[in-house]
Amino acid sequence: MKNFDLSLNNPIGVFDSGMGGLTVMREIMSAMPHENIIYFGDIARLPYGTKSVTTIRKFALQTAKFLINQNVKAIVIACNTISAIAKDEVQEAAGNIPVVDVISAGSRDATSNGYKNVGVIATPATINSKAYPVAINQLNPTIEILSQACALFVPMIEEGFTQHKALELIAHDYLDILKHQNIDALVLGCTHYPLIKDTIAQIMGNSVKIIDPAITACNELNRILTSKNILNPNQEKGNYHYFVTDIPLKFKENGERFLGTKMDKIELVNLDEYLDR
Ligand code: DGL
Repeated sequence: MKNFDLSLNNPIGVFDSGMGGLTVMREIMSAMPHENIIYFGDIARLPYGTKSVTTIRKFALQTAKFLINQNVKAIVIACNTISAIAKDEVQEAAGNIPVVDVISAGSRDATSNGYKNVGVIATPATINSKAYPVAINQLNPTIEILSQACALFVPMIEEGFTQHKALELIAHDYLDILKHQNIDALVLGCTHYPLIKDTIAQIMGNSVKIIDPAITACNELNRILTSKNILNPNQEKGNYHYFVTDIPLKFKENGERFLGTKMDKIELVNLDEYLDR
């Protein structure tokens, strides 16, 4: 196993195909305000969720290597698609760097409140992988799981269509089937979906608990950093550095609106060039 230096001041690396992972980063910023964070969004190659397993693994591994080169002390896979398809590969590349993923977190949430019928919405790649049913039923084999792929949500969210009428129409198309299946809870199995949580919750109605794995993923990260004694002892607010693989502007506009804070350091990165260095 590769052995990297996990210094207390080193940043936490959070990554996703686009801005969905900001929903996880927001939780980390609020729960661990002194931590430095590097966020990586592969907006040049998104969406991942409609791509093949081979392609997703390749992209995930490139990003993991990029983050390792930035000396991260922990990696958060803030993308369900990558968690479903390439978690083991990322952990192998990361060696002793702890890796937290959102599917383990979401599955724990889905089994924690006595739910009997649980819906999961996610990208086609996550749904096809069956990662959620497998992980949930490993924890509780009696839970019935109903899965629904929602391929159009990610591109719409990245385009900023989070309040748009078209989104509502498409959301009905995906969710009405689940609504009539008497589910107790619905897992947002894609980190982009919390950005349209209100629309989803409105369609599903009050009786369905909406599960966003971000908080549990963040708690897991906190637990690991605490147990390894590598929480940042600094008392100042952490530094946030964003890396994207294409034009940063849209990412910045939507991201700032969502995070409620300025994104000062957004850098365009060419993954291939960087890795060749
Ligand atoms: N946020 C990613 C996820 O959680 C979206 C993947 C995509 O790019 O399709 O699955």
